[in-house]
Parts: sequence; C-alpha cells; structure tokens
Amino acid sequence: MNKLIILIMVLFGMISCSNKQEGKIEIKKKNILVAYYSWGGNTKAVGDYIAQKLGADVHQIQAVKPYPTDYDSCVAVVGKQGKAYEPELNPTLLDITDYDIIFVGTPCWWGNISNPLRSFLHQHSFKGKTVIPFMTNGTSGKKLQDVKKLCPDANVLDGFSIYNRYQVDTKTNTPDNMGNWKEEVDNWLNKIATR
Ligand SMILES: Cc1cc2nc3c(=O)[nH]c(=O)nc-3n(C[C@H](O)[C@H](O)[C@H](O)COP(=O)(O)O)c2cc1C
Repeated sequence: MNKLIILIMVLFGMISCSNKQEGKIEIKKKNILVAYYSWGGNTKAVGDYIAQKLGADVHQIQAVKPYPTDYDSCVAVVGKQGKAYEPELNPTLLDITDYDIIFVGTPCWWGNISNPLRSFLHQHSFKGKTVIPFMTNGTSGKKLQDVKKLCPDANVLDGFSIYNRYQVDTKTNTPDNMGNWKEEVDNWLNKIATR
C-alpha cells in the first residue's frame, strides 16, 4: 500500500514538473526585443539587465515632450493628463516585425502602466507575438492589466513588478532602492522561460 502511494506521488510530481516546463516559453533562437519607458532609471536598469541576460535588442520609449524631472511635479502633470492620455513618441513607429518575443517595461503611474508605454502599445501591432510585461512600482504592486487590453492579438504573459522603496523610506528614485532586484529578475526569468 505504501509503495502504491509513493508511486502515485512520484507520477504526480513528474506530471506537474512536465506541465511547468510546457508552460514556459522557449527563448533559444528567438528574436527578442526589450522595449521600455523609464522616467527615472529604475525600469531602464531592469530592462537593460533582461536584455543583457537574453542577448536581446533594446528600445527606449521616449516622449517627444519630456516629463518634468522633479518627482512631485511629474506626478502632478501625469495626474492631470489622466490615464487615457497618449503622448507623442520619438520615433513614432518602430519596426517590430522581426521580433518573436517583446518584453515591455514601464514604471507604475497612478496605479497603471505609464502613458508613454500606452502610446507604444497602441501604435504597434503585436499580432502573433509573445508580449512579456514588467514594471517597477512604489507601493502599488503589479498593475499590468492594461497591457493585455492593448495587445488583444498577442500572447501576453503575466509579467512581474519590482518594488522600489522611494515613497516609503527614501527620497531618491534609483535602482539602489529596489532591493535584490537582479535576483528577482533572475528568478522570474527562470520561472517563465527555458534557454
Ligand atoms: C508620475 C508618477 C506616478 C507614479 N504613480 C505610482 C503609483 O500609482 N503607484 C506606485 O506604486 N508607484 C508610483 N510611482 C512610482 C514609480 O512607479 C516608481 O518610482 C518606479 O520605480 C519609477 O520607475 P522609473 O525610474 O523607471 O521611472 C509613480 C511615479 C511617477 C513619476
């Protein structure tokens, strides 16, 4: 009886392991782009790290009209513009046809994705591509639900968000305030991708 229980447990373990493997995306030999918007450098640090780990190309999303460099002024301007506002980007269009997998990164702005990322997602077609969102945030956690809405024809993975201690106990918006973020990125990548 004991042997039977052990056998069932081993079989169950094997099945769940193989399912996990199947759920991962295969990154080898794929063309990968990491596109991100970053106001203060945190999301840039994460995006550049992902690109370096995976040998991916990088595209930094930039608004034609820059946002204020002072944190509180920027929060106020973005709050006034509202969630639906889509700033003009430079360049407007990027040729993404050759990419199979596109990571899209953004800071959390007012509990959502940033407006420049919203413009970027709206202006490009992600049909048939795998889109993998990531975020850095100051308290709100993961607020990436709008990526799925803006890429209806893509396979949008769940994504992840890294906490930045800015608002709580520092007054500097730097990657130093994101704890062990490289370890977090490594763990996340290992969970979602095989190389
Ligand atoms: C305009 C603006 C709005 C923000 N709104 C939020 C928010 O609603 N929730 C949150 O957790 N963090 C918020 N933050 C903090 C940023 O998400 C956080 O500092 C992030 O790491 C900044 O990334 P970046 O350096 O790439 O711009 C906001 C920051 C700015 C500038």
